[in-house]
Amino acid sequence: MARRKKIYEGKAKTLYEGPEPGTIVQYFKDDATAFNAQKKDVIEGKGVLNNLLSEYFMLGLINIGVPTHFLRRLNMREQLVRSCEIIPLEIIVRNFAAGSLATRLGIEEGTQLPRPVVEYCYKDDKLGDPLVTEEHIAAFGWATQQDMDDILSLALRVNDFLAGVMYGVGIKLIDFKIEIGRVYEGDYQRLVVADEISPDSCRLWDIQTGQKLDKDVFRRDLGSLTDAYTEVARRLGVLPKTTTPIKPTLIN
Ligand code: TMP
Ligand code: ASP
Repeated sequence: MARRKKIYEGKAKTLYEGPEPGTIVQYFKDDATAFNAQKKDVIEGKGVLNNLLSEYFMLGLINIGVPTHFLRRLNMREQLVRSCEIIPLEIIVRNFAAGSLATRLGIEEGTQLPRPVVEYCYKDDKLGDPLVTEEHIAAFGWATQQDMDDILSLALRVNDFLAGVMYGVGIKLIDFKIEIGRVYEGDYQRLVVADEISPDSCRLWDIQTGQKLDKDVFRRDLGSLTDAYTEVARRLGVLPKTTTPIKPTLIN
């Protein structure tokens, strides 16, 4: 069997050339990192859960008319996506203060913000993904004004969708991060939601108890990350019917 070509290895995913031109296979690893990879571990089953959860969110977005790079899930760890040019920004949307915003502005974690707050970080691991303003983005040509208008509109639509889906299963969407890709269609180009949407890139708190069900469990040593992600997947009904909890050795 021909060996497929690895395109890129990131901290949580590996990208391979897809079977048709213009496609990519995203392989979800079990690796967890935090603080720009200063903290690392392997969390058995995380890749499987994030693959299923990201598929669920991307399909939901497509169903309400938000374009994404997602094509189809291939197996428990891989999904086929459209190849796109990633805009070098992390787009963060916050509904409640937490994490770096809480620290930077001295606001207590969990405080509801008066409106969703959108932030941009420049994607560069060497620099630790620094927070940037729209002035930087325009001056350095990372995205055009039209891109920024489209990115803001996509980010707010994703926020409304995710917050609603989470509310329906008793979870508060505190904040999340997305990445946006550019796809070309003949003479046209458009922006799509790319990368992944999973508890690695969101903050999710149980509405009743405030329990954290996201990567902060790993960042802050709060218990089992697999249990937290499994709980999110269970509430959303995306777990394969018979497996509790997910044992990657059984389903790989
Ligand atoms: P922050 O409060 O640490 O800036 O994180 C904001 C949101 O972005 C939170 O939901 C976690 C997510 N995030 C990532 O997806 N990747 C990252 O590298 C960081 C720092 C945060
Ligand atoms: N994904 C980032 C990293 O390792 C940080 C984080 O999610 O906290 O490096």
